Amino acid sequence: MPAVSFQSISKSFSTPRGPFQALQDVSLDIEEGEFFGLLGPNGAGKTTLISILAGLARATSGRVSVLGHDVQTQFAAARRLLGVVPQELVFDPFFNVRETLRIQSGYFGVKNNDVWIDELLENLGLADKATANMRQLSGGMKRRVLVAQALVHKPPIIVLDEPTAGVDVELRQTLWQFVARLNKQGHTVLLTTHYLEEAEALCTRLAMLKRGRVVALARTSELLQAASTNVLRFKTDDTLPADLAALARVTGRVAQLPAQDAQEIEQLLARLRAAGVRVEDVEIRKADLEDVFLNVMAAEQEEHA
Ligand SMILES: Nc1ncnc2c1ncn2[C@@H]1O[C@H](COP(=O)(O)OP(=O)(O)OP(=O)(O)O)[C@@H](O)[C@H]1O
Ligand SMILES: [Mg+2]
Repeated sequence: MPAVSFQSISKSFSTPRGPFQALQDVSLDIEEGEFFGLLGPNGAGKTTLISILAGLARATSGRVSVLGHDVQTQFAAARRLLGVVPQELVFDPFFNVRETLRIQSGYFGVKNNDVWIDELLENLGLADKATANMRQLSGGMKRRVLVAQALVHKPPIIVLDEPTAGVDVELRQTLWQFVARLNKQGHTVLLTTHYLEEAEALCTRLAMLKRGRVVALARTSELLQAASTNVLRFKTDDTLPADLAALARVTGRVAQLPAQDAQEIEQLLARLRAAGVRVEDVEIRKADLEDVFLNVMAAEQEEHA
């Protein structure tokens, strides 16, 4: 039985300008014990899909089940199996950190939870903030509390909607170690993130959403293998010829071009030289998930153009 099963989920929002289709026929199963990544540009529909899973929004059509429990008809059973870290920072400003976590435990009927609450505070770098009021926390600390809140009832399925947005490097590492440990212990993880390096390192399987549709669904290793194997990276102050510019990923002075093998790299360098482009700091690296992501999104662009 899948941990999470989305079956033909569509979601349409009514807006002043008429209906807006946020999700279109999304079907995917996440198996028990998987570390699954849901990727996509802003507005692709990731949070909408998670809201439907968490029972916070209703699908226009389709079904979602959590370990066999339908999210609509068996809401309480399904909700108890999930720990959801929402993208938006929402909290009650009147309580301190420990109180917030005790209240959340009570919501799930978990009593005498202080040992686990202490472990959460410790692992999320919040031990010294246990008695601080929620109002007194920085943005990154509030997000850590949201993570702790989602985990108070030790849910078998952990759903993280951009848990590391605005979180510093050190805590990101601690958070991932902690979540990876929970995953090893058997917890299923569903993650959305714009940090593709994190997704590449952590997720065994990925779905990519674009404009509400699934445009890629595969094991991370398969997606990486299918991509161009190498990337030629260099700095330049000159403008690339149009045909190369169309292929390039450009960030300020840095340009990156995909290449299959050494021969193709030589050809690229020759074309740059012929076009009078002076290059500095030349590097060759393996294609990463960001390259795959940009390829998938660009391919879809052409189809819909
Ligand atoms: N309540 C709503 N009413 C109307 N449109 C909505 C509503 N909620 C979301 N949308 C639209 O649905 C689309 C998907 O939004 P969603 O929040 O799911 O995107 P996302 O993939 O989570 O993006 P991000 O990476 O920015 O978090 C967007 O175009 C958004 O404007
Ligand atoms: Mg979102």
